[in-house]
Amino acid sequence: MPQLPAHRIFPTPDAASEALAAEIGDLVSTRASEGRTVVLGLATGSTPIRLYAELARLHREGLSFANVITFNLDEYLGLERDHPESYWQFMHLRLFDHIDIPPGNIHIPDGGIPDEELEGYCAGYEKAISEAGGIDLQVLGIGRNGHIGFNEPGAAPDLPTHVTELNEVTIGDAAEAFGGGANVPRRAITMGVKTILEARRVALLAFGESKAEIVRRALTPGITPQVPATYLQLHPDSTCFLDQDAATQLG
Ligand code: F6R
Repeated sequence: MPQLPAHRIFPTPDAASEALAAEIGDLVSTRASEGRTVVLGLATGSTPIRLYAELARLHREGLSFANVITFNLDEYLGLERDHPESYWQFMHLRLFDHIDIPPGNIHIPDGGIPDEELEGYCAGYEKAISEAGGIDLQVLGIGRNGHIGFNEPGAAPDLPTHVTELNEVTIGDAAEAFGGGANVPRRAITMGVKTILEARRVALLAFGESKAEIVRRALTPGITPQVPATYLQLHPDSTCFLDQDAATQLG
C-alpha cells in the first residue's frame, strides 16, 4: 500500500541537519553498544554538507564511527577519484577525513571504471551492500527535477545499481561547478530506485525555496516515473527533513 513519506519542518537547514545527525548518532552508538555494525547510504551535493559537519562535530565530542559501513549513492562516470568534482573528493573533504571510519568500510562508486567492466562493477556494488547486511539508513537529497541519486525522470522502479544518463536539468545544475555545462559528465553510476527502496529507513533532506515545488510534488499522493522521488511513497519508513523554505508549498 503506497503511503506518503513523513515530513518534519525545521526553522533552518542547520536545525534539520542536526535532527538527522542526532538520529544517525543514536543509531551508531546503539549498534556499537550491541557490538554490531551499521550501514549508512550517503548522498553528496550541497544539501547534506551541514549534516556531515554535524556528524564530524559529534565525532569530536566522542562518537566513534568505527562500526560504520557506508555506501554512496552515485558518482559521475569518467571522473577519477582525484578530480575536484568527484564525489570521492567531496565525501572525504566533508566527512570521511573528519571521523574514524575505517577506510575499508567506505564504498563510493568508482567513476573510473572502463565501459566493458561496468555491468560487473555495478553488480558487485549491490553484492557488497547485501553482504554488509543491507542499508540501515539511506540519506537522500532531491534534484529540482525530482531525481533521487541519479535516478532521473523516467527512471524505472525496479533497477539496482546501474549506469544512467544525466538529465538536462541535472547537467544545468552542475554546470557552474564544472566551469560550464560542456564539462559536466553525461553519465553516472547510481544506486537504482530498487536499491534505495530496499534500505530499512530513508531520510530525505531538502532545503530552500528552489526545492519547494518538487517537495510538494513528492509529498502529493501519486507515483510517477517522471518524478522519481514519488517512488518513496512505496517505502514503509521514509521521512523528509525540510527547512521552512522547502516546505512553503505544502498544504
Ligand atoms: C547526490 C545525489 C543527488 C542530489 C541532488 C540534490 O549524491 O544523488 O540526487 O542529492 O541532486 O543536490 P543538491 O543537494 O546539491 O541540491
